[in-house]
This record gives sequence, C-alpha cells and structure tokens, in this order.
Amino acid sequence: MRLTFLSLAIIFCLACEQKSKTDTFYQEQHRPQFHFSPEKGWMNDPNGLVYYEGEYHLFYQHYPDSTVWGPMHWGHAISKDLTTWEHLPIALYPDSLGYIFSGSIVVDENNTTGFQTGKEKPLVAIFTLHDMVKEKAGRNDRESQGIAYSLDKGRTWTKYEKNPVLANKGDADFRDPKVFWHEATKHWVMPLAVGQHLEIFTSPNLKDWEKTGEFGNKDGAHGGVWECPDIISLKAEDGVEKWVLIQNIGRGAINGGSGTQYFVGTFHGKTFINDNPPETTLWLDYGADNYAGVTWFNAPNNEKIFIGWMSNWDDYATKVPTSSWRSAMTVPRKLSLIKTSEGYRLAQMPVTQIEKLRLGKTEISKQTISNDTKIGEKSVLKEINLSFDLTTSTANEFGFILSNSLNEKVVLGYDKTTKQVFIDRTNAGKSDFSKLFAKKHLAPLNDDKELTIKALVDNSSIEVFVNGGKIALTDLFFPNEDYTQLSIYSKGGNAELIKGEIYPLKSIWKK
Ligand code: FRU
Repeated sequence: MRLTFLSLAIIFCLACEQKSKTDTFYQEQHRPQFHFSPEKGWMNDPNGLVYYEGEYHLFYQHYPDSTVWGPMHWGHAISKDLTTWEHLPIALYPDSLGYIFSGSIVVDENNTTGFQTGKEKPLVAIFTLHDMVKEKAGRNDRESQGIAYSLDKGRTWTKYEKNPVLANKGDADFRDPKVFWHEATKHWVMPLAVGQHLEIFTSPNLKDWEKTGEFGNKDGAHGGVWECPDIISLKAEDGVEKWVLIQNIGRGAINGGSGTQYFVGTFHGKTFINDNPPETTLWLDYGADNYAGVTWFNAPNNEKIFIGWMSNWDDYATKVPTSSWRSAMTVPRKLSLIKTSEGYRLAQMPVTQIEKLRLGKTEISKQTISNDTKIGEKSVLKEINLSFDLTTSTANEFGFILSNSLNEKVVLGYDKTTKQVFIDRTNAGKSDFSKLFAKKHLAPLNDDKELTIKALVDNSSIEVFVNGGKIALTDLFFPNEDYTQLSIYSKGGNAELIKGEIYPLKSIWKK
C-alpha cells in the first residue's frame, strides 16, 4: 500500500492526540490520583453501592454538564478490587417525575419483584425522585421513592412503570432510601431520612411499602437535616452483634458543616432502638470532608465496606478550586465493631486492597524525635504509618507535617494536654474560596498508651486512621505547589517514635 503524505499526516495526528490524551488524563492540578472522581462535571453522594458477580458498583449523584450541582443523574463506575475504577455510561437520567436523588441498589436474589426473566438476578435501584416543578410551586410533597431494575449486571436500567412506589404525605425532606434484606423476618427494609429523623418502611417485594418504625427525633445531633441513612449489622470480636445506624447530617457536624453521626443499637426488623442515652452523639469521622457515606450491599464475606463523598456540602462543596470536575470519594473503608469502656463503637480502616498501590518502602527506625526530622521520601502520593509511645513521650505536641517550598503545610498532630488528635490546614494553600476552610479539626483520643497512625495522602486530601481506626479524620487541601516534603516533629519535649513506614503510592488513573 502506498501512503500519501496526507494519510501519513492523519495517522501521525491521531497518534499525537492519543499520546496527549494519555499524558493529560487525570493530570489536572489537585486531581486525586488514587481516589475515585468523575471524569468531568459535578459529583456528590455515592449511590447504589452493590456487589454482584465479582464487581463492586459505584453509582453517584452526578451532573455531567456543570461543575456545580444541577439536575441529578446517577453516574456509574465499577471495580473488581475497590482500588482501580472503570467509568461506565450514566445509568439513570432525570425524568418527568424528577431528578434522581440518592438511593441504593439490592440484588433481588429470590426475585421478589418478579422482574427476573433470564439467569441474571435483578439488580433493583431504589432512589428518591425529586420533583422540581413541585418544589418551585412551594409544595412539600416533592420527594417520593422510585425503583428501576437491571437484568444485565447493572449495564442498562429500566424504570418501573408504576413509579413512585412510595408517595409523600407532605414531608419536605423525604429521601435517600438505603434498602437491605432482613433475613430473620424475610422482608426488605428501607431506612429513609425524613426532616431530622429516620423513618423505617418494610416491603415483601420492593414495590409495596409499609411504615414500621421511626427513630431519632430526640437522639444525637440535630443541627441540620438528616440525610443518607444506612442500617448495618456488625459482630464484635467477642461475638456480640449490634446494629449500627449511620446517619448523615447536613449541618452541625462535630468540626463544622455536614458530617456523619452514628448510633449503636438493636433492630428486629421494624424499628431501630438506641443502646445509648439520646444525648450521646457519636461521629464516624472528625475531619470536615466525609459526607453522605454508606456501605455496599452484598459485599463478600458479609463485610461492611463504607465509602463517603469527600467534601463538605454545607460549607464549600460547590466552591473548591478544581477545574473540569468537582469532588472525589474517600477510599473504601472496612467497618468493624469494637468494644470500648463506653460501649460498642465503630472502627474503620482502608480496605487492604489499597496496599497494592504501594511502590516501595522507607522504614524509619525507633528513635527519639526532639524537633523536626526530615524524611527523605519525596513522593506526593503516599501512605504514612507511624507509631509513638504515649507513656514515654514528653512533648506537648508531635506528629508529622506535609509541606512545600512555599511554606504551605498540613499538620497531623497529637496534643498531649488536651489528648486530641488533629489535622491543621489553616495554612495549607488555597482557602480564599471559603472562610470556613482554613481550620484545625480535632478528635478526642482518651487514655491510649500508643498513638498509631495510618495516613493516606493524595494530591488534595488526607485520610487519617488512628489506633486501629477507632478515630478517623478526612480533610481536603489545595496547595499551590505539591507537598513533596515530609517531616516528623515534636514541640516542647521529645516524641518517642516506636516505628515508621512510608510507602509511595502509584496512581490508579495513569493509562
Ligand atoms: C446529600 C443529598 C441527599 C440528596 C442528594 C441530592 O448530599 O442532599 O440528601 O438525595 O444529596 O443530590
């Protein structure tokens, strides 16, 4: 074949375009490298978390046409390992009944819906339909629940022709169904956020729903509307099983704005009963940037895997300084139940699959830190594991600092006097987009003998898991130059480092 000059030029250009796409894909400033973020446009809550036939599905609140919130679609991605993600086409579009707000997906194993036609089990999505026409008319009955099903492993979806399946009797906020199967009573259960409390509905077939319980009018925090609930069961190491209600709250979280509280109690199939006095408020995360998180339905080994939207709805979600996309998810975290002197509590750690992103290892030996000790590791993406002896450390404050040549920094520290762990991002880079951003976020640690930290650092976020994950803090940051410097520090005395391991991490998006 003879190639003309023109055809050679075309081939060359196509190759160039391919190469430049590879070079620039997910390479924008602040673009997370090992967290899920949408290719373009706006993202908020994780939705429809379901595991089916080897795939973890992540659907999400998505507005593809803008980087601020708008008509809600369900974006879609899948993963085989909860670490690397493949983008799939948008799964659900707004329709005449409204925008598609948050919700969940279940595997209808016993075909209770009658949707099954072939061998694939129906995946059934249950979501809130938010009617903007009613909202504009000032009507309170604007939110109802609808369903849709997929018979091809979540690739295509059919909306149920008799939607909505649960109508609204006049509650302005009536949303975010997180459905699960209750084996003991053999029915579906739908926790739903209604104003500032939870309502529980049950159903034999995901189509006919009956209200069976109400919880929370006087329990926990009430600084804002309750959103995105989840009810899960977990067994502690002593064999005790508890039910945990994860309850997101739009405003008034422990460190400002939106956040996630939880309750520990019992559930027999109809309503949730709190183990603790109503005034006990428990927080799933003490950072400012973990919202609307819920767990995967049907995860292998009955594990409860949680993922949250890494932003703060109330304070600045629509303003963070990213370019063609807005927002990322946290890393998936495995939840567990631990027994403490105050009762059973949630703990969380990143799923271990994330470890396959480790590239190498810098070991830091046992030593006394008496001021700033620079660590040679320059990679921006990293996992930091450090443990300190709290009984022999004399410093008032110690921890680690991520910084750059512009003197911008994020500090993860422990304050001995107040027994608090904190993330300080008061001088972390860009913050002029919101006066609520440049803050220090605190978490209580009580009387532990050691401080063991696991921190995952991406281009614009840090997730910290303290003492086996009984405390978690998740914060965003937007430095003007990457943080390539890491040091361990102590102030007002010595910090006794027991050991340290730093792993550079690789990007999941490099083509
Ligand atoms: C939480 C939330 C949900 C709602 C969705 C709308 O962030 O407000 O309550 O379903 O976002 O996008």
